[in-house]
Amino acid sequence: MELHTKIFKISPDNISDVIGECAEIIRRGGTVAIPTETVYGLGANALDPIAVKRIFYAKGRPADNPLIVHVASVEQLGHLVSEIPAQALSLMEVFWPGPLTLILKRTDVVPDITTGGLDTVAVRMPDNVIARELIRVSAKPLAAPSANISGRPSPTSAAHVLHDLEGRIDAVIDAGNTCIGVESTVIDMSGKKPAVLRPGYISAASIEDIIGEVEIGYNDHVTEEESVPRSPGMKYTHYSPSATVLLLEGSHDLVQDKIREMYNDFTYRGARVGLLVTSTGLLSLTNDMFYLGSKDEPEEVARNLFLGLRELDERGVNIILADGSFNHEGVGAAVMNRLRKASEMIIRL
Ligand code: TXA
Ligand code: MG
Repeated sequence: MELHTKIFKISPDNISDVIGECAEIIRRGGTVAIPTETVYGLGANALDPIAVKRIFYAKGRPADNPLIVHVASVEQLGHLVSEIPAQALSLMEVFWPGPLTLILKRTDVVPDITTGGLDTVAVRMPDNVIARELIRVSAKPLAAPSANISGRPSPTSAAHVLHDLEGRIDAVIDAGNTCIGVESTVIDMSGKKPAVLRPGYISAASIEDIIGEVEIGYNDHVTEEESVPRSPGMKYTHYSPSATVLLLEGSHDLVQDKIREMYNDFTYRGARVGLLVTSTGLLSLTNDMFYLGSKDEPEEVARNLFLGLRELDERGVNIILADGSFNHEGVGAAVMNRLRKASEMIIRL
C-alpha cells in the first residue's frame, strides 16, 4: 500500500510544531525518518512490534538483522537493559550523546522483532536535538536503522531518504545534511570482553583510552558464509550503489595513475565510468567525477562518501573507480570499511 509521506522541513520557528506532529505519528505506530549526527534513521516506537514491523517492511530488511534503539536519557535506557556494566557506563559518560552504539543484555520490555530474537539490544543516544526531542515528546524509545532501502548507501540528507522510501514511510524531518556521514561505532559490551562490531566516527583507540583493550570483532572483507557473524548485519551486502564499485588502495600517486589508466581502458571498451576521488588532478578526465575531499581530511571524505556513491549512481555510470588512498586513521577506518563492503573488487597497488 502506497503511503503519503509527509515532508517536514525544519526551520527555527516550526521545530516544536513539527516535533509535536511527528510524536503523534510515532505514538500511533507510524514511521518517521529522522536526522541524526551520523546518517538519517527510520524511526518507530521500539516497543511496539507492529510499528517495528513497518520499518522492516519499508526497508526490505531481513528479519534477523536487529535494530538500534535510540534513547534520550539514561533513565529511559534503564527499562530496556538488564544491566549496565561499569565499562559501558564509562563509555556512555564520555561519548553520549554521540555516535557510539552499545550492545547490552536486554529485558523482556524489548520485543523480539526489534532485536532479531537476540537476548541483547543495541542502544544509542544520538547527538541531534531534533532526534532527542522527538524521543522525549513521544515518550518512546525509537528503533531506527539507517533510512535507506536495505543494501543501499545510507542517507545523509532528506532527499536520499525520499529517493529510497517516499510512499513507504509516514514522514521525514528534513534538517539538512548530516554532519558525520557514516554510521555510529557499534561496540558489544554484553560479553566478557568488549568488542567493536562496526567501526565508526569514534575510533577503537579512543574507546581504549577509556576502558582499556577491546577486541576488533569485524572484518572489512566479505564475511565467510560458514562463520556465524557476531553482528547479524555483517553478513549482508552493504552500502552498494547499482554500479559496480572497484576500489583502489595504495599510495596516493600510484592510485591516481591507476585510476587514469583504468578509466581509459574501460571507456575504450564502451563502459561509462564514474570516479570517486580525493584528487582534483583527475578533473580533466571526465565530468562523471565526484570529489570526496582532501586525502588528508578523512572527516571530509566521511561526510561525502554516501552522497558520492549515490550521485554517481544517479548519473547512470556502470563502473565506479573509488580512490582508497586517503588517510585511514580515525574515521578514515570507518570510511574504508564501508568502501570495501561496497566494492566488487579491491585492487592493491
Ligand atoms: O549511526 C547509526 O548507527 C545509524 C543512525 C540512524 O543511528 N543507525 C544505523 O542502524 O546504522 P543500522 O540498522 O543501519 O545498523 C545497525 C547495526 C547492524 O549492523 C546490526 O546488525 C547491528 O547494528 N546490531 C543491532 N543490534 C545488534 C545486536 N543486538 N547485536 C549485534 N549487532 C547488532
Ligand atoms: Mg544500515
